[in-house]
Amino acid sequence: MIHFKDLGLVNTREMFAKAIKGGYAIPAFNFNNLEQLQAIIQAAAETKSPVIIQVSKGARNYANQTLLRYMAEGAVEYAKELGWEKPQIALHLDHGDSFEVCKSCVDMGFSSVMIDGSALPYEENIALSKQVADYAHKYDVTVEAELGVLAGVEDEVSSEESHYTRPEEVVDFSKRTGCDSLAISVGTSHGAYKFKPEQCTIDPETGRLVPPPLAFDILHEIEKRLPGFPIVLHGSSSVPQEYVDIINTHGGKLPNAVGIPEEQLRRAAKSSVCKINIDSDSRLALTATVRRVLAEKPGEFDPRKYLGPARDEMKKLYIHKIVNVLGSDGKA
Ligand code: G3H
Ligand code: 13P
Ligand code: ZN
Repeated sequence: MIHFKDLGLVNTREMFAKAIKGGYAIPAFNFNNLEQLQAIIQAAAETKSPVIIQVSKGARNYANQTLLRYMAEGAVEYAKELGWEKPQIALHLDHGDSFEVCKSCVDMGFSSVMIDGSALPYEENIALSKQVADYAHKYDVTVEAELGVLAGVEDEVSSEESHYTRPEEVVDFSKRTGCDSLAISVGTSHGAYKFKPEQCTIDPETGRLVPPPLAFDILHEIEKRLPGFPIVLHGSSSVPQEYVDIINTHGGKLPNAVGIPEEQLRRAAKSSVCKINIDSDSRLALTATVRRVLAEKPGEFDPRKYLGPARDEMKKLYIHKIVNVLGSDGKA
């Protein structure tokens, strides 16, 4: 058993309480490799923003859970080297799908875990989330649970609203599970294709797809019923069109990729949404840069020569999110 405090990590309790009071949100960035982690820590240290670094099942399969945990430990020391005296870094399990996975993360030093029982029937979701919360809380590890299912592009347009979180369930769910934060579904989804073209309108000036707005009415209803309770927004990448264009003009193929407009995320960050998950935008920044550099320098074969610029681009992206979208700069 390794406790997160011994690794210099923090849980999300205080971060979230301050974010709700201050009307901003904490960035939760996924990482799978060294360059992403370096860019996240450089961005957070430079802006003095609390940050959640999160590890998905895909990341654990790709990079190995143990290695990722040691990288997070290294990240705390790296942040100090960069001049951030008391780094506010939480190491979080993203979309944990079983008690065993959550327990193993708690036991190896994660400071926060998500148990995603959102696909289960309501009572089963409660039972599983409570089991995780009961265990994690013994070690002061904070727990995110989820209610409502994030829409996928494969869904029929007409059925999407039925996946939204039902405000009438949130009080019962949070009380009975004992979770510390609640991920909700109000119209976001994972990946770079968040909406089908037929769900969007077209901007007459740019010809770009304009996605439908998030369900702020549902978010406000949830806030009313759970005042001051930390709410989490998954699937919050904006899918910057400049990256999509670079990818598409350098041999890639991402037709009709579209995300959540930043204006809507700014609005969400001012509410009780205090954790905003961003993964796809970082993948797009990395891919766009690697494609561009390799196209411009076809003779290059030193990975540092294309992953280095990709790391710089991701850092720029993270700083932009922190300063211009979430408003978490200067809060750590
Ligand atoms: O929730 C989804 C995250 O973007 C992680 O995705 O499972 O491909 O690592 P992944
Ligand atoms: P995006 O795919 O929109 O970046 O969402 C990431 C996420 O929710 C990770 O849990
Ligand atoms: Zn997610």
